[in-house]
Amino acid sequence: MIKCISCGQEYNLNEIIYTCKECGSILEVIINPDVSRDVFACRKNTMWKYKEFMPVDESRIVSLEEGGTPFIGCHKLGSDLGIDLYVKVEGSNPTGSFKDRGMSVGITKAMELGVDTVGCASTGNTSASLAAYAARAGVKCVVLLPSGKVALGKLAQAMFHGAQVLSVEGNFDEALEAVTALALEGELYLLNSINPFRLEGQKSIGFEIVDDLGWESPDRIILPVGNAGNISAIWKGINEFYQADFIKERPMMTGIQAEGACPIVNAVRDNRMEIEAVKNPETVATAIRIGAPVSSLKALRAIYESDGCADTVSDEEILSAQKMLARTEGIGVEPASAASIAGLIKLVEDGVIDKGEQVVCIVTGHVLKDPDTAINACSEPLNVKADINDLRKVIRSR
Ligand code: F0G
Repeated sequence: MIKCISCGQEYNLNEIIYTCKECGSILEVIINPDVSRDVFACRKNTMWKYKEFMPVDESRIVSLEEGGTPFIGCHKLGSDLGIDLYVKVEGSNPTGSFKDRGMSVGITKAMELGVDTVGCASTGNTSASLAAYAARAGVKCVVLLPSGKVALGKLAQAMFHGAQVLSVEGNFDEALEAVTALALEGELYLLNSINPFRLEGQKSIGFEIVDDLGWESPDRIILPVGNAGNISAIWKGINEFYQADFIKERPMMTGIQAEGACPIVNAVRDNRMEIEAVKNPETVATAIRIGAPVSSLKALRAIYESDGCADTVSDEEILSAQKMLARTEGIGVEPASAASIAGLIKLVEDGVIDKGEQVVCIVTGHVLKDPDTAINACSEPLNVKADINDLRKVIRSR
């Protein structure tokens, strides 16, 4: 069933609904499968390994084999910080971000419902992912992007997979409002994370982390927060495995936002349950350039219930963490993803994270999503003749 997270009103799983008709709050899917964790052991390493926890018809799954992403121990960086650090590399998904998990379930649901057009507003990754999964499913796809604020790789993907790409004057929050209005008119099936089926796919990040750790919870999970769907989804996944008695502890959920786009952090600082929208959000991490996150209530519950926290990082800290991760651990991520690493460093320095903690940082998207930012962070290649003497001289000068 689908259930309102505020008033508890229940809806049928096949109703096309995005917010509660009674109170206007956001919705979640309730699922309580009766399985043993042993059933997962011999299955292929994709998010569908946990198919009993996915509320869709197993015979119609639309998949590009998303999930099962690398879970990498970062011992150099971890020992510098005095912690046990792992990084979950979501850039290894089919279109290069964690959104593929949510889209696989979301598009499967769209097929069950028989819709012919899907759509979303996006800071880039959601549109790239939706375009690919819509292509695979053979449905029309419309994406609304904030004009001039989407990184090049993401724009290329949305266009190349054949979506109708609309560049909207205004920011992400305004584009989301517009596409939601179109969805409510029945023009398209909305696949932003206000659609609770999206989070059902993304909760598999939580499943995989505890599975990767041998059915143990880490002390803490840190991730960037934009529209606040992912932190809510991972906490839901963790809770489902906790309720199924697969794990005995739960991690502290730790959300990181950019200084110029931090409504969730502001709410946590004041111990509030509601956000105040940030009017003109701004950050180099365009993926999380969001002022009015739709899943804020779920995200705030995740942070408070897990005894977690939230903090901001500056654009400078984001870019420096991005480069450091690439050069010390060999992991290339886009700026928004590096917010989790920048946040980790800040929280260790501030003494919020204890020495010896086991921490998992989610890095949400691939470095090639935003090639301009990567190139701007480096000096230009040297022009050299294909002459061995010239080459030797140049190599030894560095
Ligand atoms: N990291 C990346 C790379 C993202 O693309 C996003 C969100 C986030 C983090 C934040 O996740 O919204 O669930 O809190 N991107 C959305 C998009 C908004 O349109 O691609 P969130």
